[in-house]
Amino acid sequence: MKTIYLSENETEKSAEILKNGGIVAIPTETVYGLAASTFDENAIKKIFLAKGRPNDNPLIVHICNIKNIYEVVSEFPEKAKKLADKFWPGPLTMILPKNKSIPNSVTAGMDSVAVRFPKNKIALEIIEKSKVPLVAPSANLSGKPSPTKFEHVKNDMEGKIDAIVNGGDCEFGLESTVISLIGEKPIILRPGAITPADIKSVLGEEIEIDKNVFSKPQINQKVLSPGMKYTHYSPKAKVFLVKGTTEKYCDFLKDKNENGIFALCYNEDIPFLKIPYISYGKKENPTEQANKLFGALRECDFKKAEIVYAHFEMINEISIAVYNRLIRAAGFNVIEI
Ligand code: TXA
Ligand code: MG
Repeated sequence: MKTIYLSENETEKSAEILKNGGIVAIPTETVYGLAASTFDENAIKKIFLAKGRPNDNPLIVHICNIKNIYEVVSEFPEKAKKLADKFWPGPLTMILPKNKSIPNSVTAGMDSVAVRFPKNKIALEIIEKSKVPLVAPSANLSGKPSPTKFEHVKNDMEGKIDAIVNGGDCEFGLESTVISLIGEKPIILRPGAITPADIKSVLGEEIEIDKNVFSKPQINQKVLSPGMKYTHYSPKAKVFLVKGTTEKYCDFLKDKNENGIFALCYNEDIPFLKIPYISYGKKENPTEQANKLFGALRECDFKKAEIVYAHFEMINEISIAVYNRLIRAAGFNVIEI
């Protein structure tokens, strides 16, 4: 298949392709998504195929107007309304009871549906012109870091999808916060730019974070979000997450100078390192880390890293989102020093 490249001004053309059953990678404020019409089962199949995504991992439905919410959900409870008022459009995905018309292939047969109202202008225009909500998983090959730049999408999807819209670099760089509003208490299934404190400030209650955000589900354990079961964000290298101060981290690495070993580090570590490194931002700036992490993980492949020691320290609530992606990239291998 020939993949065409579209500029951010060609939203009409993108919508046309989507209306005709094609699949198009589009920018959002979090990461690039691979879009298709929510009600076109054939196009949905193409998404799973292009990504190599397991069929039991459901997709997020994207809307461009709160008026369209009942096309996607069967109930829109008070708590969801409050969160929508505050955070939509924006990087928050809510799990809600699904509308019957949403195909089972979108929700992987679940009774719930993930819904998001993004704020990226290009994404909004494309949804609006498509005249239907669009499903859009991250536009990476399954298991790879999500794409935050046009080039990342091109590397993964060239020849597999109809078009890629070049919207430049994504603003946040990690995927949306996912919160389930299905049970009695809201529960965060994936941390992101909208933090537990942000949500607490609107709902006025403590917000639980699902334990599988930080730890590996047991074999055959039932998880609240199917995505939690799968390997994610992995470069080809074996990654270890190393928790500790700059001093301890650099000390830990000082005799690890074989070929292929890389430090995935903070800027502050650089002067003390004697091995090749890829930096993902300043230690005190988790927002910058969120923005650079997926690019840095992709660079590990580019530089043919074989073993990567990733430095991590918890600074604030954005660090939770960074940690969630890093610990998955590391296959839950954590070294405390
Ligand atoms: O920022 C984002 O959310 C990006 C952009 C493109 O919007 N999209 C994204 O989609 O990250 P994806 O498919 O890569 O991740 C969606 C996650 C998966 O872990 C999936 O298992 C979970 O959301 N999910 C989807 N529907 C669900 C449901 N009904 N219940 C629980 N988890 C669900
Ligand atoms: Mg994804």
